[in-house]
Amino acid sequence: MDVIEVIRTKRDGERLSPEQIDWVIEAYTKDEIAEEQMAALAMAVFLRGMDRAEAARWTEAMLTSGDRLDFSDLARPTTDKHSTGGVGDKITLPLTPTVAACGAAVPQLSGRGLGHTGGTLDKLESIPGWRAGLTPTEMRKVLKETGGVICAAGTGLAPADRKLYALRDVTGTVESVPLIAASIMSKKLAEGTGSLVLDVKVGSGAFMKDLRSARELARTMVDIGNDHGVRTTALLTDMSAPLGRTVGNALEVAEAVEVLSGGGPSDVVELTVALAREMLTSAGLTPGTDGVKDPADALADGSALAVWKDLVHAQGGDPDAPLPEAAEHRVVLAPASGVLTRLDAYQVGLAAWRLGAGRERKEDAVSFGAGVTLHAKPGDRVSAGEPLFTLHADEPERFDRAAQALAGSYDVGEDPGFDPGPLVLDRIG
Ligand code: URA
Repeated sequence: MDVIEVIRTKRDGERLSPEQIDWVIEAYTKDEIAEEQMAALAMAVFLRGMDRAEAARWTEAMLTSGDRLDFSDLARPTTDKHSTGGVGDKITLPLTPTVAACGAAVPQLSGRGLGHTGGTLDKLESIPGWRAGLTPTEMRKVLKETGGVICAAGTGLAPADRKLYALRDVTGTVESVPLIAASIMSKKLAEGTGSLVLDVKVGSGAFMKDLRSARELARTMVDIGNDHGVRTTALLTDMSAPLGRTVGNALEVAEAVEVLSGGGPSDVVELTVALAREMLTSAGLTPGTDGVKDPADALADGSALAVWKDLVHAQGGDPDAPLPEAAEHRVVLAPASGVLTRLDAYQVGLAAWRLGAGRERKEDAVSFGAGVTLHAKPGDRVSAGEPLFTLHADEPERFDRAAQALAGSYDVGEDPGFDPGPLVLDRIG
């Protein structure tokens, strides 16, 4: 087969045949296709799209480029959650132990942050001693012993996606429904979970800015998952404002522990409970019946916190050790009194990234203590001269550019009836 012919097919808006897709993914994985040719093909897919059958075949080809884990012999049913990425999205941290405390097993392969969105592994690595890199044997052991595991995907899982995602990231081809769907689903199917709940984010801080494209992405992924025998559903959730009151690695871990201790911001609690119930139901367990605890009770009675401590310990971490703190702080004050009617997730994510919470290149280290504390969320009343944001950074020279990102990130108005709207916007199942 000829790669130029495959590129021309998609460039001219035609469907790729199953044989073309299988061949191109296999050849690219074996380094037999040049990066510039794959970049051209990714751009052609980005501009011309792929139909459901092409996206499903592309996913299948990426899945078979590597290994597939199998946890079907575990005593508990397995279930997992994947978020398409957002700002302040620390939900995996309270969610995994909560679902485990309610009786399912959660094998979570997570990623690192790139650009303005954070990554679960970066957050967890702020816990002294905690290790993301586990062998498949270690992963199985932690999962079996604690009911949950959160770790990095080994190099053997969906290697085609590992290469292609890095290429898409530097060629402006990330925000494509079929490419995102295939990327996420090839990894999730390789991870061996029995059921899956997708948290598809919608809004300024998400890849999908509007409900229509988020629904299309959710439907594509749900169909691919179910076609592979993995019961898959999706919640569409708001990402126009950051989740919770912290954005940044160690700051978010501290907030997740507050939630696990029965407190924490109401939006983080609401989403954790909604996703946990959806995961348990997907796994065939009915929360609140037959000895299956309801997730809200697992947060309130300390059982989710106990699993969190076990799972942090099992991966080398000390759950009681103090978390890293940034060396420098700057407070941004509210310029006027009124109701906060907008807090833009993308701008806040950008500010946290400029403070050092994220990385510019894949090889960069993140600053664990860096980030933003939000003193008000949409719908809250603020008073002129009171703190709106606290910025955390190791180097004070980072503050000005972060403050610039935040300057246009919010509106304070006189709208006492302002309602920020629901967090869960839709369900696709
Ligand atoms: N997350 C992924 O894993 N892949 C994408 O393409 C986008 C988000």
